[in-house]
Amino acid sequence: MDHHRPTYHLCPPANWMNDPNGAVQWKGQYHLFYQYNPNGAFSATKHWAHAVSPDLIHWEHLPIALTPEPGSYDKDGCFSGCMVVHNGVPTIVYTGVRPEVQCLATSSDDLLTWQKHPANPVLDESSCPLKVKTFRDPFVWKETDGLWYMAVGSGITGRGGACLLYRSADLLNWEYMHPLLVDEEASTGLVWNCPNFFSVDGRHVLIVSGQPVWKPFYWSGGYEDHHFTPQTSGLVDYGGCLYAALVFNDEAGRTLFWGWIWESRPDDEILQAGWAGAMALPRTLFLNEDGTLGARPAPEVEALRKRQVIHTSRVVAEGQTHLENAGGASLELRVRFSPGQAKRFGVSVLGAADGSEQTLIGYDVERREVFVDRREAGLRPTMAFNWPNPDYHAAPLDLAAEEALELHIFVDHSVVEVFANQGRVLSSRVYTRGPESVCVGLFAQGGECQADLLEVWEL
Ligand code: FRU
Repeated sequence: MDHHRPTYHLCPPANWMNDPNGAVQWKGQYHLFYQYNPNGAFSATKHWAHAVSPDLIHWEHLPIALTPEPGSYDKDGCFSGCMVVHNGVPTIVYTGVRPEVQCLATSSDDLLTWQKHPANPVLDESSCPLKVKTFRDPFVWKETDGLWYMAVGSGITGRGGACLLYRSADLLNWEYMHPLLVDEEASTGLVWNCPNFFSVDGRHVLIVSGQPVWKPFYWSGGYEDHHFTPQTSGLVDYGGCLYAALVFNDEAGRTLFWGWIWESRPDDEILQAGWAGAMALPRTLFLNEDGTLGARPAPEVEALRKRQVIHTSRVVAEGQTHLENAGGASLELRVRFSPGQAKRFGVSVLGAADGSEQTLIGYDVERREVFVDRREAGLRPTMAFNWPNPDYHAAPLDLAAEEALELHIFVDHSVVEVFANQGRVLSSRVYTRGPESVCVGLFAQGGECQADLLEVWEL
């Protein structure tokens, strides 16, 4: 039994998972597809796997939806993409490789089997006058003019990450328009994967995942005459373990978000475990007043609560304590801290009873950031690209002097998702030395503080 395997996150039954793809609500059910290698827990020839859920939480695996066709335009992979319903027909828009080209597939049996379109590929890079490095991960939406618009992830040689804009009346014939955004800052990557472009709370938001920096970025701003003017930017997730977002407006008008949470352990351990990758819990997105993007767990996640084990408030003295009867590897915690004198305070999870390992989640008053600190976590992670410290991840968060810190934490074996004020999120991976490292505690450094509210549920 692999004690690192999550129990309530969507994971592949076996083998390799990466990006979420093609979310749709169809006849009362949510369908989510994802990048999948059926031949092992390593990244190779990508298929589209398929899962269905009545409630965003309980998923059933369905047969593979898209398989690369030897000798054809998608022989080397059916890469990421999206789903639209065109004239009543569910239509997948995906990237065939290699070279990277955009393709369609349709279903006439409620999304179970898929027919690749005879006109494939429907778009290659030849109509784009720029010298592009990659050309993939189509994201398609309809505007009030009745036309389809497509954002394609790319990078322009000598410049930087780019998102290219196209339009079409029929999904078959695409006209190149212009880049929706190009960023010459190498810090956001040389190429962009998995663009998403949508409106939320009165602004437009572009999300991309940048290579080779392996981070999910967003910009929020205005969109007029098909030109995007970014005003505010940041990371969609600050935990160092989430990449490749998928945003989808459901029938209730919510802006739902999924992302791929990757493994952070060595390849041989992943191969031995036989599975890799987890989907972040479904989130809803919103904009703060300053234009920063925030996320919360979708309310459906509450259905996972089995038993509330703690509901209390208490003073957190300087130092660290374990909570009695509140341990577990499958937990939800809500904690509200009033600052007090402490310079650093928060919650510890996945701790050993003797204190020899733990992961700290909290707020640093001087650095003004909410953090996940896994420097004392059992097995040291190996994969956290391009962060100053691969075992310490933080999101900027300017709390006012008397403002409480709100932490909403999900622990699912090796997956830890942390939501804080203003919808800052950090997704992390923690591999404890053994299944018994499940202690939960509170800590305060440099003074005491107060946990006004402390709730823990077993999930
Ligand atoms: C991002 C990505 C995408 C691509 C897919 C292939 O993780 O590289 O750009 O479509 O994964 O699996």
